[in-house]
Amino acid sequence: MSTKVIVVMSPKGGVGKTTTAVNLATAISILGKKTLLIDANLETPHVAIYYGFVGFKYSLEDLLNERVKLEDVIYKGDDENFHLIPSRVTNVAADRAANKLINMNVYLEQIKDMYDFIVIDSKPSYDIAFIKAIKNANSLIVCNPDITSIIEAKKIKEELDDSGIKIIGMIINKTNSRIKEQITVKEAEQLTKIGNIWKIREDNGVYNALRQGIPAVISLPKSEASRDITSIAKNIIKL
Ligand SMILES: Nc1ncnc2c1ncn2[C@@H]1O[C@H](COP(=O)(O)OP(=O)(O)OP(=O)(O)O)[C@@H](O)[C@H]1O
Ligand SMILES: [Mg+2]
Repeated sequence: MSTKVIVVMSPKGGVGKTTTAVNLATAISILGKKTLLIDANLETPHVAIYYGFVGFKYSLEDLLNERVKLEDVIYKGDDENFHLIPSRVTNVAADRAANKLINMNVYLEQIKDMYDFIVIDSKPSYDIAFIKAIKNANSLIVCNPDITSIIEAKKIKEELDDSGIKIIGMIINKTNSRIKEQITVKEAEQLTKIGNIWKIREDNGVYNALRQGIPAVISLPKSEASRDITSIAKNIIKL
């Protein structure tokens, strides 16, 4: 199987990209696939926090600024199937390397054969040029169950289609069955014309996991959000 590269993106900030990227990558690795998760959100880089992993020496910024080698920024998890390239959590503004993100494909080409899946978390306002620069990138759109979010998702879909970037699917995150006014998967399919729309339920376990610094699919595998994400991971593996 060739490596599947998945860029997790969204029309708006705070919709659940990092929660999705972290738990999806972790779930895929638990399902036995060799997985690399990259925090390519240099604006609000939070992936490491989700793993309670904050004492790392080198980050993606160091690689993009050509201070270290690729192997210096790949961290190995307890699960041998899981590797992580974190971004620096503290704000060293002058050291940001956002304009060099476009070079990431050069590094990906060097390591991609080592992995079944490479999951990339991205910044709040999406960057088509960045996704386009990644060879064979698949985009995974994350949005919330409200009409503004879905309208923006439809706009992104059209832009991705125009750019020739494959959409692997869309996740509607933070769904709540008690709120009948929320946009349903069916409505989202009709409005956006995106195939493969999945949902992740709103779940306090997500906050609990973040507090513990252990992804929900590990710390609370039976929680609603974890079960949803594991099921999405199984679907994505089969695609
Ligand atoms: N399914 C869920 N149920 C409950 N809370 C959630 C869920 N998904 C995400 N959250 C919470 O919503 C907040 C935003 O999530 P997250 O950080 O994943 O969003 P983001 O899109 O990555 O944000 P940013 O655009 O800043 O990178 C976090 O506090 C997270 O714990
Ligand atoms: Mg994020």
